[in-house]
Amino acid sequence: MVNKFRQKYEYYQSLIEDYLNSLPLKGNLLAESMAYSLMGGGKRFRPVLALACVELVGGQPKEFVREASALELIHTYSLIHDDLPAMDNDDFRRGKPSNHKKFGEAAAILAGDALLTYSFELLAQPLDISPAKQLRVIRETAQAAGWQGMVEGQVLDTLGNGQHKTLQEIENVHKKKTGALLIASARLGAILGGGTEFEIEKITKYAEYLGLAFQIQDDILDVVGESETIGKPAGSDQKLAKSTYPSLLGLDGAREHLAKTINQAKEQMEYFGTKAEFLLALADYAAERNY
Ligand code: IPE
Ligand code: IPE
Ligand code: MG
Ligand code: MG
Ligand code: MG
Repeated sequence: MVNKFRQKYEYYQSLIEDYLNSLPLKGNLLAESMAYSLMGGGKRFRPVLALACVELVGGQPKEFVREASALELIHTYSLIHDDLPAMDNDDFRRGKPSNHKKFGEAAAILAGDALLTYSFELLAQPLDISPAKQLRVIRETAQAAGWQGMVEGQVLDTLGNGQHKTLQEIENVHKKKTGALLIASARLGAILGGGTEFEIEKITKYAEYLGLAFQIQDDILDVVGESETIGKPAGSDQKLAKSTYPSLLGLDGAREHLAKTINQAKEQMEYFGTKAEFLLALADYAAERNY
């Protein structure tokens, strides 16, 4: 089972890596800086989730690799900006110096801007599905990434450094800064793959819990992980006096909450029966991953 999961994850990853490698990101400093952060090191969790949801509802993952990969551009932009001195001020990312450490702050800000806009250029390329469906995906992705989604989450997170948050407030930050793009990824897959509204709703609920769990584990790894393994500086949250699940509940409490959240994610998959095998294993992976 574990092997089967890994094989499939690696298969989706290879589709995404091949697509990202085919992007013409060379020839000037901006393109180099974009490619530097995009290539190498990332788990590709969001596009993998999207392709798995395409398949879950009976679609062909290979047909939507570009759209899934566009999510990785949004995610990578968010990481470049997240590491900037004005935000988390972290010098390492994906096992290498952060973008601003390598290219300078101005280039890093602009590489983030360019990756974000490029992702929507890719999402808007002609596609062999109804224009209404494609527009829905573009609109939902923009909403999830934007001022009431991921960006709002980053605002609440960054401006809240040093403030004591309640569990409910932390959950809200996590749902936005990390959950929103994971939900959008799952929905993109379910919509493009031709899922019914009922299926899209089930998948959305699954991704809500998955997104929360993903960030709880990120916060746990910040405490227990080694910088070399996680590819970014451990202890970053404590340095910034961030409220996190481990800071509020302790490590054991955070782990308990994580286990509960993963089970809630899995429950949403019951409807899909054995077809959900990969997404069930993906939920376990989100909680057990060590980077
Ligand atoms: C890190 O994301 C930032 C969060 C939103 C938790 P990932 O853990 O997916 O990082 P990469 O893409 O694999 O580097
Ligand atoms: C980042 O959360 C969420 C984003 C939208 C980038 P973190 O700040 O915890 O992510 P890491 O730990 O730096 O990857
Ligand atoms: Mg951050
Ligand atoms: Mg950070
Ligand atoms: Mg973190």
